[in-house]
Amino acid sequence: MSIKKQKLELTWIGKDKRPRLEPRIFLEDKSLSYQAAPENLTADDLFSDDEQQPKAFHDNLLIHGDNLLALKALEQQYAGQVKCVYIDPPFNTGEAFENYDDGLEHSQWLTLIRDRLELIYNLTARDGALFVHIDDNELGYLMVLLDEIFGRQNRVNIVTFKQGSATGHKSINPGLVTTTNYILVYAKDKSHWKPNRLYTARERDSRYSQFILNYEKGYEFWSLCTLSEAFSKEYQSTPKELKKLLGGKYEELLSEFVINNAHRVVQPARPDYNSVGRNVRDSIDESKANPEKVVYLERDGYEDMYFKGGQRWLFYKNKLKDIDGELVAGEPLTNLWDDILSNNLHKEGGVKFPKGKKPEQLIKRVLDLCTSEGDLVLDSFAGSGTTAAVAHKMKRRWISVELREQAFTHIQLRLKSVITGEDQDGISKAVNWQGGGGFRYLRLAPSLLKKDSWGNWVINKEYNGEMLAEAMCKHMGFTYAPSQTQFWNHGYSTETDYIYVTTGSLAYDQLKRISEEVGSERTLLICCKAFMTDGAEFANLTLKKIPRAILNKCEWDHDDYSFTLNVLPEEPAEQETVEQATTSAEEE
Ligand SMILES: C[S@@+](CC[C@H](N)C(=O)[O-])C[C@H]1O[C@@H](n2cnc3c(N)ncnc32)[C@H](O)[C@@H]1O
Repeated sequence: MSIKKQKLELTWIGKDKRPRLEPRIFLEDKSLSYQAAPENLTADDLFSDDEQQPKAFHDNLLIHGDNLLALKALEQQYAGQVKCVYIDPPFNTGEAFENYDDGLEHSQWLTLIRDRLELIYNLTARDGALFVHIDDNELGYLMVLLDEIFGRQNRVNIVTFKQGSATGHKSINPGLVTTTNYILVYAKDKSHWKPNRLYTARERDSRYSQFILNYEKGYEFWSLCTLSEAFSKEYQSTPKELKKLLGGKYEELLSEFVINNAHRVVQPARPDYNSVGRNVRDSIDESKANPEKVVYLERDGYEDMYFKGGQRWLFYKNKLKDIDGELVAGEPLTNLWDDILSNNLHKEGGVKFPKGKKPEQLIKRVLDLCTSEGDLVLDSFAGSGTTAAVAHKMKRRWISVELREQAFTHIQLRLKSVITGEDQDGISKAVNWQGGGGFRYLRLAPSLLKKDSWGNWVINKEYNGEMLAEAMCKHMGFTYAPSQTQFWNHGYSTETDYIYVTTGSLAYDQLKRISEEVGSERTLLICCKAFMTDGAEFANLTLKKIPRAILNKCEWDHDDYSFTLNVLPEEPAEQETVEQATTSAEEE
């Protein structure tokens, strides 16, 4: 027997079941869209070329509806454009959260998340990345699934996020107390992903315990005293007395002193003689031979070096990093994020979202890592709107999707107060947020086709001419851009290929006139109810009937793809009842 196919994959009940999604259009609810008062629009809210609307207003989208249909609806315009996706889907813990149902059968959960992740993959830019927040219930399964969609080679990190401490009711149970969850990080294409270098603040490094006394005089005259002596001198005291005097404030004030004098706080350290270059070795030798002298080594393009008694002096100033506008000792960001405190989380954004809301600081870190101003950020499980709020304050463009009513009870209100500048919680101070910008509040249009009383698919009565034209453009792969002057021009696919959508029937004379207007340099797709060509052929026209032309393109009138959808077969085959990560080998 030869092995026909061998692939490492996750299998589960219903994996092969895939929805054939209708690419819906969006409808704006102008009463819920919001933008800053004109006098508060900033230079960043520049007007785009073709729209008399501020860019920030035009590009930020709050979508109320199921994210599967929403992601599909975004695909045509935004495929390959999203720089960073952060999602925090229901964790599938079986707990009933106050604001959403979190507790789905595992296979069902995997199908639902897979369908969404595939669309997210399409939307992500080549140099973009995905961050999925998850707990340990589905972590293993989700990772294998993501390896399949994004490619194992594009898995960048698994971040451990400390989100609680071992207190409260969870600490009573025997065994280990869970205080962390995880963020899976995938690049769309690792070879194109260029994340920024980030630092986290760390406590004062007490190994830097020496202080240059006569710094102003020039290095030849430098000598050292201990840091605590220098600090106490500031207060005309002795180290022992000062500790007593300052009590609990001692460390805080000492740290401040170190930062203010970082250019003269040093740590003498023995260099690794064998792994340094020739000129550094020469300086070490010279310094050993003249132990009283400070030896200076000037270096091109690198930090200059100072040696005494064969030791190199490391300066505290080189450890300082600007983190959120403050100079602090920093160390490179690792995959353990245990420094983001959730203390005032309930207050952030001025909305209550118990258990689900994530700290703004966390999203800021994600966006700092992989985006710049103007980049597009997506969150398709928006919850209380943390991602949108943070992206907005950081001047990124954003798209957020939320299924439930918190789209307006939470997110819309939260974003409004971000835009007015009232929201001074979360990261506002760190980014000096003053307000500005805007967003559009969108809902998904109903299905384009509905069954009539005879069971035939017909155009939904809720569609007017414009909606129909826009929807047909989407189905036929055209960009909707209705012309003000040419009634037959509703959009384009290339510079010379156009589309005309009408519910009318077109007679020969009408077609002839349109054909003449279009001319021999252009082509036109006409989608109409019926047409009569009288046997004539129009070389520049392609004629299609609605709805026949689109009938088989997708499934129609299907609105509920939410996380409550039952994707399981009625009676699962006996041998398929468990989902498993497995090496499946199909043998002949
Ligand atoms: C854990 S919460 C996200 C919390 C968010 N990160 C925050 O900081 O507020 C998950 C959210 O996903 C939403 N959700 C679940 N299924 C959805 C779907 N099919 N489409 C859109 N949103 C959905 C839930 O209503 C819930 O608000």
